[in-house]
Amino acid sequence: MTSRLQGKTAIVTGGASGFGKGIAAKFAAEGANVIITDLSEEQGESVATELNCLFSRADVTKPDDWRRVLALALDEFKQLDIVVNNAGITYPNKPTQDVTEAEFDLVMNVNVKAVYHSTNILVPYFVKENRPGCFIQVASTAGSRPRPNLTWYNASKAAVINATKTLAVEYGPKQIRFNSVSPVVGSTGMTHLFIGKPDTEENRKGFVSTIPLGRPSTPADIANACCYLASDEANFITGVDLQVDGGRCV
Ligand SMILES: NC(=O)c1ccc[n+]([C@@H]2O[C@H](COP(=O)([O-])OP(=O)(O)OC[C@H]3O[C@@H](n4cnc5c(N)ncnc54)[C@H](O)[C@@H]3O)[C@@H](O)[C@H]2O)c1
Repeated sequence: MTSRLQGKTAIVTGGASGFGKGIAAKFAAEGANVIITDLSEEQGESVATELNCLFSRADVTKPDDWRRVLALALDEFKQLDIVVNNAGITYPNKPTQDVTEAEFDLVMNVNVKAVYHSTNILVPYFVKENRPGCFIQVASTAGSRPRPNLTWYNASKAAVINATKTLAVEYGPKQIRFNSVSPVVGSTGMTHLFIGKPDTEENRKGFVSTIPLGRPSTPADIANACCYLASDEANFITGVDLQVDGGRCV
């Protein structure tokens, strides 16, 4: 155990699985107090027990849930330092004209509007307390190097990357940093939806063939990037979209 995040308190959304679980594990190992949130209560509780952190069932699209999680952080740890907007969703890979309005709305609500809620509810805390803050949004290489058949998912991630840069310049003078991390395809709960078939090594080949380092991303890759951005080592880094992609976006 090292201590790059010692004394800091972090919220990690979507922490019950995939990249979010990896981020929570790394943050806890680096000494942070971690609160994971997710829709999935059973999985969230189990991960929290495994990582010795807190779990709160919270839907990132619900402002009241954000208020409750902020209150939990202040009650339990008296402070908040890091917010990782990791929860995300996609619809299955398919021709764009077949995407339903409900699928479009869900993707925009979970991937984009949740960042709006986290900003509106959490930024006032940092401003009022005159406290440096760090927001990390888990975006995607899809936001800058889109692939076909995922138009609105890709667009949602582009919106997150752009909003993050705007927030960085707007709140820089308050010492609140905003960065995004953009993973290339990994092997998580949503990968089968990206590739439009079961998530097997064979089916991932098409996606992986465009990654110079020749493999998908892992939760540890994404967690290491988030840990750097959350640590004091990155206290002059804001407005960056850090592509964790084995060279895919070059
Ligand atoms: N897997 C990939 O290939 C890949 C690539 C690039 C970016 N991403 C992004 O990484 C992030 C994490 O996804 P993952 O790949 O670990 O998938 P995942 O499905 O394993 O994890 C996503 C988590 O978010 C939770 N979630 C969904 N909607 C929620 C809501 N409304 N409120 C709270 N929690 C909610 C889910 O329950 C799940 O635990 C997402 O933002 C995703 O878009 C994934």
